[in-house]
Amino acid sequence: VTARAPSATPPTAPGTGGLELDGAGLRALVAAAIDRLAPFLDSLPDQRASGVHPVPAGAVPAPAPLPLTGSPVDVVLDEIVDRARIAFNTTSPGFMAYVPGGGLPYAAVADLIAGVLNRYVGVAAAAPALVRLETDVLRWFAELIGYPAEAGGVFTSGGSMANFGGVIAARDARPGALARGTVYVSAEAHHAVTKAARLAGFAPDRIRTIATDDHYRIDSGELERVLVADVRAGLEPCLVAGSAGTVNSGAVDDFDALADLAATHGAWLHVDGAYGGFFAMTRAGRAALGGMTRADSIALDPHKTLFLPYGTGALLARDFARLRQADAPHASYLPDKNATLPDFSDYGPELTRPFRGLRVWLPFRLLGVETFRDALDEKLELARWIGNELAMEPRLEIVAPPTLSILAFAVRAEGATAAERDALTRRLLDEVNARGRILLTGTVLRGRFVARIAIVSFRTHMDRVIEARDIILESLDRITG
Ligand SMILES: Cc1ncc(COP(=O)(O)O)c(C=O)c1O
Repeated sequence: VTARAPSATPPTAPGTGGLELDGAGLRALVAAAIDRLAPFLDSLPDQRASGVHPVPAGAVPAPAPLPLTGSPVDVVLDEIVDRARIAFNTTSPGFMAYVPGGGLPYAAVADLIAGVLNRYVGVAAAAPALVRLETDVLRWFAELIGYPAEAGGVFTSGGSMANFGGVIAARDARPGALARGTVYVSAEAHHAVTKAARLAGFAPDRIRTIATDDHYRIDSGELERVLVADVRAGLEPCLVAGSAGTVNSGAVDDFDALADLAATHGAWLHVDGAYGGFFAMTRAGRAALGGMTRADSIALDPHKTLFLPYGTGALLARDFARLRQADAPHASYLPDKNATLPDFSDYGPELTRPFRGLRVWLPFRLLGVETFRDALDEKLELARWIGNELAMEPRLEIVAPPTLSILAFAVRAEGATAAERDALTRRLLDEVNARGRILLTGTVLRGRFVARIAIVSFRTHMDRVIEARDIILESLDRITG
């Protein structure tokens, strides 16, 4: 055994020694981080919307050795900002791919506060005033989407876990669900819903994929036929899952039809509102999402349509009591229950959990909910505008007009084969994205390749959407010669 030589590197972290970081050290470290983040934020409008994509060979660093000793603050902070460049630029105002949110810096400050305070919000007794803050935010969500007063919910890491919680609640609401229960999912549902059903223990042959209608909504006639056939076969419909805005085309299911069918067959209705649920905060969005609040549970994703940084989803239930795990254990090593506040650990798999509510509470308190409502209204308006603009171009076909803020379109190619037509739409996307001002992605709708525009980021405004229209039309000129 050789004695370890004393480190030749001088202390580099701003702390007072060991792991300690006092007030002055925290100030210095945060200031050094802000020195990098402020220019990053201010240069966003000029950054490439695609980021560094595709990633050039050799751009991803080699695996790093274990850092036994510290390194200078500047070196470490520069490295993380450099690494972040090799990525889709999900913060750009031109990022209209997938389902962007932008990442509100206000919420990032909330994370800093939550981390330094480091209070325990898994059980109410440990930090009741902060658990109240989280129950307030969840109650505000319920109010904003139009759920009744007895509704409530729990924060999750994202939409997938929120959907998982909804599926678990449906399973536990029906005794024998795993023996005889069946699950009904749209062919256009996000794969997170089927994944949740599998994770909850439903066998693949109990998960029914229901065809969609011409608007990519669940075909309710087909759903009814499958439900009736299953009941005749001795099975028990357990869960009908609808979508409040599909990821492919933004389609919104007919919730009144789904709620009627679910009620007739004693099934739980869960809605995946990860992308679209928060649009119910706006007048136009609520009209488009009519009937959504008849659902027993709704998955929301603040890191999409409340624009938060990644890591915050929420599951709401029409009747909060039904989300509580029936067999929530009480362990002798945990503090006593609070008379009025929930232990969030009884409402999901996590015991220790991050203080996610602060990420919403801080921007809601600082900016007011109306600011969010206006931003969502603006997204609806921008999507409608560009949908109308592209619809006037005869060489394009709007395959899915925007119900909310996602639309899908393709190059119209009379007389071409399906493969040729798809190839043209792919070429259009490549041309558009090569300019670096906007990033669009494609998907497949009913076997046809389509380009999608998803206007969700709080940073996307009319100037960039006008630019998007111009780039799409100029790119179309180029590929159609
Ligand atoms: C409609 C829909 N549902 C569920 C999810 C999954 O959510 P998350 O990625 O937050 O787990 C997404 C993500 O894009 C989505 O768009």
